[in-house]
Amino acid sequence: MEGYTGNLLSIEGVAVVTGGNRGIGLEICRQLASNGVTVVLTARDEKRGAEAVSTLGTLGLSNVVFHQLEVSDPSSAVRLADFIKEKFGKLDILVNNAGINGTISEVGDPESFRQELAGMDLTGRMEIILKHVTEPYEQAEKCLSTNYYGIKAVTKAMLPLLQSSSHGRIVNISSCYGQLRFFCGEELKQELNNIDNLSEQRLDELSELFLTDFKHGQLETRGWPTEGGFIAYKVSKALMNAYSRILAKEHPSLCINCVHPGYVQTDMNFQVGHITVEEGARGTLMMAMAPKGGISGAFLDLTEVTPFV
Ligand SMILES: NC(=O)c1ccc[n+]([C@@H]2O[C@H](COP(=O)([O-])OP(=O)(O)OC[C@H]3O[C@@H](n4cnc5c(N)ncnc54)[C@H](OP(=O)(O)O)[C@@H]3O)[C@@H](O)[C@H]2O)c1
Repeated sequence: MEGYTGNLLSIEGVAVVTGGNRGIGLEICRQLASNGVTVVLTARDEKRGAEAVSTLGTLGLSNVVFHQLEVSDPSSAVRLADFIKEKFGKLDILVNNAGINGTISEVGDPESFRQELAGMDLTGRMEIILKHVTEPYEQAEKCLSTNYYGIKAVTKAMLPLLQSSSHGRIVNISSCYGQLRFFCGEELKQELNNIDNLSEQRLDELSELFLTDFKHGQLETRGWPTEGGFIAYKVSKALMNAYSRILAKEHPSLCINCVHPGYVQTDMNFQVGHITVEEGARGTLMMAMAPKGGISGAFLDLTEVTPFV
């Protein structure tokens, strides 16, 4: 099953959510559909995606359809765009949610590990988590190709459809880890914050430079993040933030924003986040359902506008 083939009518608009089969993505699909939006729930795995649609169906949400999407494969994004074009002729909301954290975890029994973490404060949890994860080069590469290049490929394929909407919106699920304060070099921090002088091509170059520096253990020289782990994740989200800001400038008719969902209980953090997926989806819903003329090029920490630095 590649995609739903019936015709749908939507009053509240049509949304695409990437990585919609679990975690925050699934909850965003649920909340959008509950608000009357027709949701195209996408997942890289057809079985997991179809199961998620059927779970939402049992909640009475029949306005959710499935389409396969592997975000790191541009041809997959083109197939999704063809589907949307044929069925709806436009897209109102794109939620770039799919993401990975660029690590491999070595945990014997996930449930007992979760219980061990649950009794600790945030600093303690992070210390223990960092002792159980590694960040090999291959994962760093995957992290950039999913969280940065993946978002770009999906956005590029969806842009003409968003421009066909009377009110196109993009919400990029970022992270507080994408804030530039995690970078150790002032020059690089300034370059990534100086949106007027930054280009997409330069972001691609920086992404390649990062991977080379990561491979050779030379993070400090150019000013990449060096402390606290999740290094590629931090860089991928910072590049994604900068890309969102460039895009928001280039497309003033669209509303394009980044949202840090909070530390949310999902598989990404062994289900020990301190807020629920319902709370974590709130900022995204706010941006996705915002009326025409709302903010663009902003970064939200849950539901509050926050600096990119
Ligand atoms: N949880 C937090 O505390 C937290 C904090 C800050 C930011 N975030 C961000 O929130 C977003 C959602 O995270 P989550 O916590 O809900 O994580 P999650 O439970 O691990 O879910 C991640 C989702 O992304 C999908 N995905 C990963 N790689 C993909 C690919 N190449 N193509 C298509 N789908 C892909 C996964 O699909 P599979 O099921 O097939 O793996 C899954 O549906 C991510 O962007 C994450 O960085 C989360």
